Amino acid sequence: MNDKNEMMLKTINYCQDFFKDDKTGHDWQHIHRVYLLANHIAKEENADDFVVGMSALLHDLDDWKLSENYVEGQCPKANLWLTELGIDEETKSQILYIIDNVSFKGAHVKTNMATLEGKVVQDADRLDALGAIGIARAIIYGAVHDRALFDPEIKHQLHYDFKTYQNAKSTTINHFHEKILLLKDRMQTKTGKKLAEKRHRLAELYIDEFYEEWFFGQETTQ
Ligand code: ADP
Ligand code: NI
Repeated sequence: MNDKNEMMLKTINYCQDFFKDDKTGHDWQHIHRVYLLANHIAKEENADDFVVGMSALLHDLDDWKLSENYVEGQCPKANLWLTELGIDEETKSQILYIIDNVSFKGAHVKTNMATLEGKVVQDADRLDALGAIGIARAIIYGAVHDRALFDPEIKHQLHYDFKTYQNAKSTTINHFHEKILLLKDRMQTKTGKKLAEKRHRLAELYIDEFYEEWFFGQETTQ
């Protein structure tokens, strides 16, 4: 087994263990789906499969929602893990750059992802926030974070900065307008765009049906 395969396998085992108890939509199954999607997109787009695979596995390790002492621009857990693996500095900084920029930070906050490998991982992560699984993850996230499913009095907002997005008291259904339904047009690879179409349609159909059922018999519509 070569060094890269061994590092990848060790990282798979490490993440499988790290995310095993997560109940917020960042469980190992999410990481694994993103890893498989990212591998697929990387092949189609001729991206570096090692950087893509490692970044996909580690992309949520330092997520702000899971880190008590989150500081933007720092990925202490991923950094430590990559250092322990003995990965070279150049590859390490490519991976850390991706992990640091992968998160969605608000509707009007521009995505800053300069590398092909980063675009691949970001597309893969966002595909898992769309479609049947994306809908389920949003509902689970809302329940775990004690958010209302829907409240017609609380209007959705398109956020201009990360802090406001992070602290917004919104509803799960609003999250569709604040993030989920925006993702299709932000796909950055051809393969990601293609895979997003069907998943986006399902999310859109779900939201339309949701309003139809919620407002059944009432004059008000969204
Ligand atoms: P990802 O891991 O795909 O980057 P996030 O970390 O932003 O996604 O969130 C994990 C999952 O929970 C995603 O499917 C996302 O759409 C959903 N989610 C995030 N924030 C909210 C929210 N405020 N309300 C409902 N669902 C949310
Ligand atoms: Ni993720």
